[in-house]
Amino acid sequence: MISPRDELLTQDILRLKKEKSAYIIAHYYQREEVQALADFVGDSYAMAIAAKESPYDVILVAGVDFMAETAAILCPGKIVLTPEPAATCPMANTITVNDVLAYKKKHPESIVVCYVNTPAEIKAVSDVCCTSSNAVKIINRLPENAGIFFIPDQYLGSYLAKKLGRSIDLFSASCPTHANIEKEHLLRLKEQFPHAQVLVHPECHPEIVDLADYAGSTKGILDYATQSEGKSFIIGTECGILYSLQKNNPDKTFILASEELICPNMKSITLDKVRYSLEKLETRVTVPEEIRAKAALALERMIEYAS
Ligand code: 13P
Ligand code: SF4
Repeated sequence: MISPRDELLTQDILRLKKEKSAYIIAHYYQREEVQALADFVGDSYAMAIAAKESPYDVILVAGVDFMAETAAILCPGKIVLTPEPAATCPMANTITVNDVLAYKKKHPESIVVCYVNTPAEIKAVSDVCCTSSNAVKIINRLPENAGIFFIPDQYLGSYLAKKLGRSIDLFSASCPTHANIEKEHLLRLKEQFPHAQVLVHPECHPEIVDLADYAGSTKGILDYATQSEGKSFIIGTECGILYSLQKNNPDKTFILASEELICPNMKSITLDKVRYSLEKLETRVTVPEEIRAKAALALERMIEYAS
C-alpha cells in the first residue's frame, strides 16, 4: 500500500522523468513504491538488455552498483544514474582481480565465467559473464572439455556443475541474504503448507535448492508461479519479489521461506533518493574506458550466447 507522501513523491518523480527524458529500470528486490513507478522491472539480465535497448539518453538504475555499472558498460555515451552509490552487493565484492589473475596463471587454458554480480574490473579479466537466468545456456556454449572457473558465487556454481554434470572450479563467496533460509524452518513450512511448491533462487545453499520444486532467477520464479496451476508457493528469494508475484497473481498465496530475506543494499534506494537523483542528474555511474571496453567484451559474449 503506497502512503499519501509516497504518492506525492511518485508524482514528482514522474514529472521529473518526463522533463529529463529519463528511463527508470528497477530490480524485483526494490521497494514496492520504486517498482511501481519504474518503466521496466526485471531480473539482472533483463535489466541489462532493457538498458542496452533503451532509446533514452538518461537511464536511472534502481538496483545495486553492479547493475548500474553493467548499464554504463553497455551504454557508453548515455547518462546512467544511481540514486544510491553506496548500494552494493557484498558477495560481488569478495573477489579481487588478483584472485582471477592468479587462477589464470595456474590454469591458462581454463575459461573464467563471471557472474554478473561482480565489479567492472572483475568482468574485465573474465572471458564471459552470466546471470542466473542464462548461466546454463552460457556454460553449454563452452567446449565440452574446457576447464571452467566460476566466480564468485559458489552456490550458483555448484548448482550449475550438478545440473550440467560438469566439473567446475569454484570461488568461495555466497550471498548473505539468501543464506538466511534455514533448512529446518523450510521443512516446517513444507509440513505446514503441504500443497505449496517451493521456488528458490540458485544463490541459496545447495541443501535448500535440493528441497525446491524449482530453482531459477527472479524472473524465472515469477514466470513459474504465474504459469503454474498451483495456488500457493514458498518463496526462497529476497522479499521484494513478493510485490511482482502478488501483482501478477492476485489469487495466489506466497509465503517467504524466511522473514530475513531482506537485502539491505537493495532496500537503501528510496523514493526521496530517486527524486534527488533525477532532479540533479546525480550520481553518474562511470567506468574507466580501458576497463569498460574489456568488461563489455565479456558482457556482449554473454548476450550473444544467451540469444
Ligand atoms: P537475478 O539475476 O535473478 O535478478 O538475481 C540477481 C541477484 O542479485 C540475486 O540475489
Ligand atoms: Fe547481492 Fe545477495 Fe543482495 Fe543479490 S540479494 S544483490 S546477491 S547481497
